Amino acid sequence: PPPDGTLDPATVHTCLAELTARTGSTNPVLLTATAGTTDTGAIDPLPDLADLADHHRARLHIDASYGGPLLFSDTHRTALSGLARAHTVTLDLHKLGWQPVAAGLLAVPGPATLAPLGHQADYLNADDDTEAGLPDLLGRSLRTTRRPDILKIAVTLKALGRQGLGDLVERTLAAAQTLADLIDAPPRYELHSRPTLTTVLFRPTDADDTTLAAIRRSLLTEGHAVLGRATTPTGLWLKATLLNPHTQPGDLTTLLKLVEGHTPR
Ligand SMILES: Cc1ncc(COP(=O)(O)O)c(C=O)c1O
Repeated sequence: PPPDGTLDPATVHTCLAELTARTGSTNPVLLTATAGTTDTGAIDPLPDLADLADHHRARLHIDASYGGPLLFSDTHRTALSGLARAHTVTLDLHKLGWQPVAAGLLAVPGPATLAPLGHQADYLNADDDTEAGLPDLLGRSLRTTRRPDILKIAVTLKALGRQGLGDLVERTLAAAQTLADLIDAPPRYELHSRPTLTTVLFRPTDADDTTLAAIRRSLLTEGHAVLGRATTPTGLWLKATLLNPHTQPGDLTTLLKLVEGHTPR
């Protein structure tokens, strides 16, 4: 597989071909791609995967929980080319959308996709009520009573607009590039790769796994920073996921100084 953890179209092609040969071409197959992985923020090659889904008659779902909001940015939306070809897309606006949890969305091309959710219950959507145009939420969800999580999203979209959100996305992605630049200046740190979204994987040069775990734990328990961790083919890394659009270069320098201060030399 590619070193950044994305799906390799040639391997996907082989898997889908084998699956169809084994189970028959009428069996439903779902291909799930990720637009912004949890570990590195990498985006799968969506146009190629959409072609493969077409070719093998598979449904295509794209988990754009993390990267989906790049759509708000005129500069970054091209990274999601191919997204519109998915049968379903998930987005978490409690990640790069600045919403309180939970703000997960399932996007579909049109109401027909939701037909399997159609359900009739006299006390909720009697025929005459539906014919009279009274709204009901059956057909959009199996849950009849739920929190109106869409309200906060609607308020944010109304207040900031697509451009306002796009601006926040751009600032946060720029902060990640700045952090990568600071890390990429040897000799103190090693950078895993240039960030695609806002996740930056790095480690102090020569730090072993135990040291990385200890750095992370001290920064957390001392109340300085919450760093994640990720394991990739090149080993264990500290993971800084930037989500604050107001982060300044000085904040990032401070973070690196803190990591440095907790690294035994
Ligand atoms: C790519 C991706 N998909 C799905 C999820 C699950 O998110 P949640 O538990 O907020 O729904 C995450 C969380 O990090 C994620 O990064």
